[in-house]
Amino acid sequence: MTDRPNPLLTLPAGEVIFHEGDPGDQMFVLHSGRVRLTRAGRKGVQTLSTLGPGEFFGEMSILNNRPRSATAEVIEEAKLLVLDAQTFENMLVKNVEIAVRMILRMASRLEEANARVEILTHREPVARVILALLRQAEKIGAEQADGAVLIPLEREDLPELSGLNASDVDEVMSRLTRLGILQDGDLGIEIKDRARLSQFLDYRQGSPEKS
Ligand code: CMP
Repeated sequence: MTDRPNPLLTLPAGEVIFHEGDPGDQMFVLHSGRVRLTRAGRKGVQTLSTLGPGEFFGEMSILNNRPRSATAEVIEEAKLLVLDAQTFENMLVKNVEIAVRMILRMASRLEEANARVEILTHREPVARVILALLRQAEKIGAEQADGAVLIPLEREDLPELSGLNASDVDEVMSRLTRLGILQDGDLGIEIKDRARLSQFLDYRQGSPEKS
């Protein structure tokens, strides 16, 4: 990998750009393709984020002079702009718009991380799944004509988002589906009744022993 900021670096799917714990003195702006950021946790590898065109990563090591906080892997052929620390700093000093965009992006990452903590620290599997679904509904849900909210997710995405294993997720999903609150379909998971789902959550949070 080169130190020069230009031209764009093209990397194939499967290529690891850097590993968690590596020293880092470059950051990356993704022009095309997709990159996944992961961390090794107690329960295995956790995806922090999947990035698309226009997004950046690798700035933290430059800013705080610490090892890479996550592993970055190309999951769809990627064209990347590589910036060294000096170029990055010059860019921020010269271009306020870039600096502001970066701060906004970091604030939304922090918000995302806080939401994740709320989900993962909940003891109840039902509450974790509901919180994860409500969060995704807010982020990527599409309101349907009948008032339902369609979330373009598969059930297989939920263990990662809720920190549960697949069989716990299945149990919760089956229950919520039986109650008519959710529906699992080809296009995604549909929240048929958002108010009831929220009530169900309030009830769980108020009555942790009940199942
Ligand atoms: P750095 O620590 O240099 O390398 C890993 C990069 O992953 C990090 O910089 C950030 O750009 C990015 N990163 C770390 N934590 C998160 C997170 N919680 N959400 C999104 N991106 C992250």
